Order: sequence, then C-alpha cells, then structure tokens
Amino acid sequence: MSILIIGATGNIGRELSRALIRKGQRPVLAVRDPEKARPLCGGRADYIRFDFNDPETFAPALEGAKQCFFIAPHADPVPSVERFLQQALHLQQIIFSSGRTTGGVPGAPLNKVENLVKASGIPYTLLRPGWFMQNFTGWIGDDIRQERRIIVPAGDSRTAFVDVHDIGAVAAAILLSPSSHTSKTYELVGREAFSHYEVAAMISEAVGEKVEYRPIEPADYIKRMISKGWTKKAAEHTVYLYQLVQEGKEAEITPDIEKVLNHSPRRLSDFVEENKLKFS
Ligand SMILES: NC(=O)c1ccc[n+]([C@@H]2O[C@H](COP(=O)([O-])OP(=O)(O)OC[C@H]3O[C@@H](n4cnc5c(N)ncnc54)[C@H](OP(=O)(O)O)[C@@H]3O)[C@@H](O)[C@H]2O)c1
Repeated sequence: MSILIIGATGNIGRELSRALIRKGQRPVLAVRDPEKARPLCGGRADYIRFDFNDPETFAPALEGAKQCFFIAPHADPVPSVERFLQQALHLQQIIFSSGRTTGGVPGAPLNKVENLVKASGIPYTLLRPGWFMQNFTGWIGDDIRQERRIIVPAGDSRTAFVDVHDIGAVAAAILLSPSSHTSKTYELVGREAFSHYEVAAMISEAVGEKVEYRPIEPADYIKRMISKGWTKKAAEHTVYLYQLVQEGKEAEITPDIEKVLNHSPRRLSDFVEENKLKFS
C-alpha cells in the first residue's frame, strides 16, 4: 500500500516527495509524463501516468494506494476532482493543498474542491498555504533578474510568505502520522509578515544591488502580464489574489506549521540569502 502524490513535479509536490524519501518512504509520483519526472527522485520513487483531464488514468494510479496528496488542476477543477474522488473512496487518508484565502471564499474553485473532499467520506486534512517565498525566484523573479524590480499590485500591504519546503514537510508529517490530523485545516504561513518594499530591501541587501518594489495599478498589471504571454483570465485572477493581499488577508501569522512540525517556519531572510544566486 502506497502514498500517491499528485502534483509531484510542482513546488509543493517536489518538496513533499523528497521529505517522504528522507523518512524512508517510497512514494508513487502520479505525473502527466513519467519519463520527464523521473530525474526528480530517480529510483527512490515509483512513477505512474496521471492526468486529471484523462479519467482513464485514475484507477491505475489509485490501485494499491492507501494515502494521497493532491493539488487541484488549474482549469475548472471541480468536475475532474469530483470524478477522481468517486474512484478514491478506498483511501485511508487524503490531503488536499488549497489556498489560504481563496480556499475559504464560498464559490471559489479551491473552496468547492475543499467541500468535495470533506463530503467524500475519505479521512482528510486540508492545507491552506499562504503566498510562496518561491514566487520571488519563480514567476516574479524574471522582473527582478531583468529589471531589478518587483512589479506587482500589492500596494503597501503585508504578507506572511511561506517557504514551500515547510509546506512539503507539513504534508509529509501528516502522511506519516495520519490519525492525529484527520478533519483538520491548517493555514500554513511564515513567522513574519512583510511588505513588498521590505522584500525588495532584503533582496537588495543579499545581492548587493538595488532592487526596487514598484506597486502597479491592476489595469496596468493585466496589460503588462498579457504582453508577457499570460492569458487575460490568469492576469485577472492574479489581480484578484493581490486584492485579497491588499485587504490584509495574507498578513496574519498562524501557529499551524509549528503545531505540526514542532519548530518555527523558515524565515524569509534565510530563503533570500540561500537563493540569492537565483536573483541574478
Ligand atoms: N504560488 C503561490 O503563492 C500559492 C499560494 C497558495 C496556494 N497556491 C496553490 O497551490 C497550487 C499550486 O501548487 P504548486 O505550486 O505546488 O504547483 P505548480 O508548481 O504550479 O505545479 C503544478 C503541478 O500540477 C501538475 N498538473 C498540472 N495539470 C495537471 C493535470 N491536468 N493532471 C495532473 N497533474 C497536473 C503539474 O504536473 P506537470 O509536471 O505534468 O506539469 C505540476 O506538478 C495551486 O492550486 C495554487 O492555487 C499557490
């Protein structure tokens, strides 16, 4: 009986897979392209083809699985997740990684998926992570590398950024000790909240060069991201997420990471220092 990880090639899934392997487990990574995913964990994991858009892949992936971690597919997740859960009723545990703010907004896709998980009857745990620190080396990182600027519509609000390493570690701890986390929802955030001005100052200090935060109006942000190749829908959704940030909904610190891991979450300053080469 195995632990199935859906989204294993993503930010959280990679950290979770490695955390489980460090603890002596051999997870099954359910991925769209097993050959492409294989370098991720080499021979220390098993790989099976899985695609939320291809229901034929559900039963083979679920066969022999006892526990499952998943993130929602980006586009229209509800029908495919509903169909997936109908075939997953034998699982003894399921973890769904949702989103800190939208997970709690009635009618939002991640909230609908949370409700499907709760209604499935499978013993579940919900994770609601806040904004990832890794966004600054990922999709926000291009502006930092190319223009030495952070250009997002976050105003001067504060965010309790979380390291995906901690999210993966929390998910692993829950999978390894299932019964103590059943029916719980954890809000996973860092130990301090920062404005984007403070993040820019931190990165400047680490790279030894001025990095500036430039708040941008939502309409200009949408135009800018479309010109970079994003869809209008993705740009508008990101503006919506930053609106929640501006309303202060990502600022509050929670003790949930420490509750599960028995140690404090990683500091943003440590993340920036460890990843400073990725800003150049
Ligand atoms: N970024 C943030 O700050 C933030 C904060 C809170 C919550 N979130 C939420 O976290 C989730 C994203 O997690 P992440 O960053 O770990 O993932 P990610 O890096 O965006 O990667 C997406 C993963 O999903 C897989 N995937 C995509 N479409 C799939 C499909 N049709 N069937 C099966 N697998 C599919 C991808 O596999 P392939 O290798 O096949 O592409 C990849 O492993 C989203 O729900 C997002 O809303 C993000």
